Amino acid sequence: MFRLSLTLITAALAHVSHAVDNEVENRSTVQSSIPDYCATPLASYFDGKSRLTPDCIVQPRAAKEVATIVKVLTAASFLKRCQFAVRSGGHTPIPGANNIDNGVTIDLLYMNGTTYDPDTKLASISPAARWGSVYETLEPLGRMVGGGRGSTVGVGGFLLGGGISHYAPRIGLACDNVVNFQVVLASGLIVNANKKTNSDLFKALKGGNSNFGIVTRYDMETFESEDLWGGIVTWPSSTVDQHFKALVNFGTDPNRDPNAALIVFQGYSTATLADVVRAAFDYTKPVARPDAYKEFYAITPNLTDTTKIQPMSAIAAEFGSDTTKRVQFRTVSFKIDLATLQETARLYKILITEIQAKASGDYRISCLSQVWSTSYTANSTAKGGNVLGTERYKENFIMYQSYLLWSEPKDDKLFMDLGLMLTNGIEKFAKSKGTLIDYLYLNYSDKDQDPLTGYGPENVKFMKKVATKYDPLGIYQNLLPGGFKISKV
Ligand SMILES: Cc1cc2nc3c(=O)[nH]c(=O)nc-3n(C[C@H](O)[C@H](O)[C@H](O)COP(=O)(O)OP(=O)(O)OC[C@H]3O[C@@H](n4cnc5c(N)ncnc54)[C@H](O)[C@@H]3O)c2cc1C
Ligand SMILES: *[C@@H]1O[C@H](CO)[C@@H](O)[C@H](O)[C@H]1NC(C)=O
Ligand SMILES: *[C@@H]1O[C@H](CO)[C@@H](O)[C@H](O)[C@H]1NC(C)=O
Ligand SMILES: *[C@@H]1O[C@H](CO)[C@@H](O)[C@H](O)[C@H]1NC(C)=O
Ligand SMILES: *[C@@H]1O[C@H](CO)[C@@H](O)[C@H](O)[C@H]1NC(C)=O
Ligand SMILES: *[C@@H]1O[C@H](CO)[C@@H](O)[C@H](O)[C@H]1NC(C)=O
Repeated sequence: MFRLSLTLITAALAHVSHAVDNEVENRSTVQSSIPDYCATPLASYFDGKSRLTPDCIVQPRAAKEVATIVKVLTAASFLKRCQFAVRSGGHTPIPGANNIDNGVTIDLLYMNGTTYDPDTKLASISPAARWGSVYETLEPLGRMVGGGRGSTVGVGGFLLGGGISHYAPRIGLACDNVVNFQVVLASGLIVNANKKTNSDLFKALKGGNSNFGIVTRYDMETFESEDLWGGIVTWPSSTVDQHFKALVNFGTDPNRDPNAALIVFQGYSTATLADVVRAAFDYTKPVARPDAYKEFYAITPNLTDTTKIQPMSAIAAEFGSDTTKRVQFRTVSFKIDLATLQETARLYKILITEIQAKASGDYRISCLSQVWSTSYTANSTAKGGNVLGTERYKENFIMYQSYLLWSEPKDDKLFMDLGLMLTNGIEKFAKSKGTLIDYLYLNYSDKDQDPLTGYGPENVKFMKKVATKYDPLGIYQNLLPGGFKISKV
């Protein structure tokens, strides 16, 4: 298989021009200014477990090359099945989502530029750009987009899973601010998907993962760039109950300030040996200590405080993460309810105690509670719709994420089992109390979780229809096994 696919791809690529796409030739392309992650491609995967060993890694430079690769791999599969994976930023910590053993990894690494068109006020962003480089490109032009909170997160996967930015309460989900996707279909055809053209595909891509095509360009709405007030404040873990009470009030406030983003999290790491509660405050205007968080300011004393007025690129750099550890994300959603939040703290304590007793290497535990606000999708339908199905919730809810990071492969089972215990325990409690929410945020889901079903039956039906229409042979279902597959729902 190795020789077959490698020879064919090499031969096919030799005939593809490396010229940039015509449509963007007159705009100034700015390459990513993030340090070179790809000295060795496998080391550049965020999660150590995801460093699988493909037979071959192809690194196309333009949509036309992606199309050729898809055609060649599909044709080769008629002789011998040849599966492949697609990788943009490589941040998903699910082995097989963005890489593959015994197959070909399409690494979009070189498609990492951001261009801005002052006439349309749109930013055209290539899939493997990191959000840090997008912000650094747009800020000097006075423009901004709602993207990832961490500078190292990739554009490609983030926008296909929904995408929560600090600007979400104000401008909605990141995917709903995409006005056009350039997509390579299973046939190798390169099409646009927007409100007017292929509008069903446009809607399905917003939340629908890698089921419909390989996206080679995202055109996003921009807005005026302004400094934010933000940073991370740390308190001792004994204050957790005060934080949860403040979070409940913040999340249920009908007059919540749309500039105020917030994450409250419990954490412990071998680097600090401190069991703490943190709050990430991100206020999208240059206003110091805005009233929106005043209940949190009353929790005293704090241990550290990095808040200041700074540009989005600096805020994102503080959230950036190294790529040297093993990672598990899991998620559960529930109503904004103090008792359920307190149960998360009870289970967290069990998890930490077990890990402290048994883990052999370094680790960092973060358990994050964020408010999913109804305003995130307030304008989704007007903008062409998405498939997340969250409009069915009339009240804000909590999106809980466990984020475990550890150094030793021999601790894999310990961490992954405890992560499972934590979210299963919360789910069980929430179900019994009637506070469980079916929706799961795809970008925080683990492999065994089923976020697509959480979008609701109508959206599942719709995604199946769109997948069949644009990919009748099921190439992206069968040959691209990574990610959450609509054919398996
Ligand atoms: C440190 C950290 C911080 C994060 N912060 C946030 C946050 O603030 N908000 C938030 O919403 N999420 C956040 N996430 C989650 C993040 O959105 C997902 O991990 C996302 O998948 C990352 O995108 P990527 O391009 O780096 O992923 P990749 O791993 O490269 O890709 C993810 C998946 O998408 C598919 N895919 C990628 N590119 C394409 C493409 N061009 N066409 C078709 N399919 C494609 C891949 O096949 C793969 O299955 C964070 C993750 C990390 C690790
Ligand atoms: C690029 O600019 C030149 C000169 O301004 C113009 O003639 C040409 O049509 C432009 N090309 C595209 C693809 O817009
Ligand atoms: C971005 O792509 C260019 C070529 O298109 C490449 O030279 C550069 O190394 C890439 N940058 C990163 C950070 O991968
Ligand atoms: C939705 O649109 C209205 C009207 O344009 C606007 O005032 C509001 O800020 C938008 N909200 C979001 C979350 O996009
Ligand atoms: C994030 O989104 C991408 C694309 O939709 C998906 O393939 C990936 O699995 C998601 N990441 C996580 C951690 O679930
Ligand atoms: C944290 O404590 C310091 C020192 O007391 C104080 O100046 C700062 O305002 C506090 N931060 C917050 C967000 O309340």
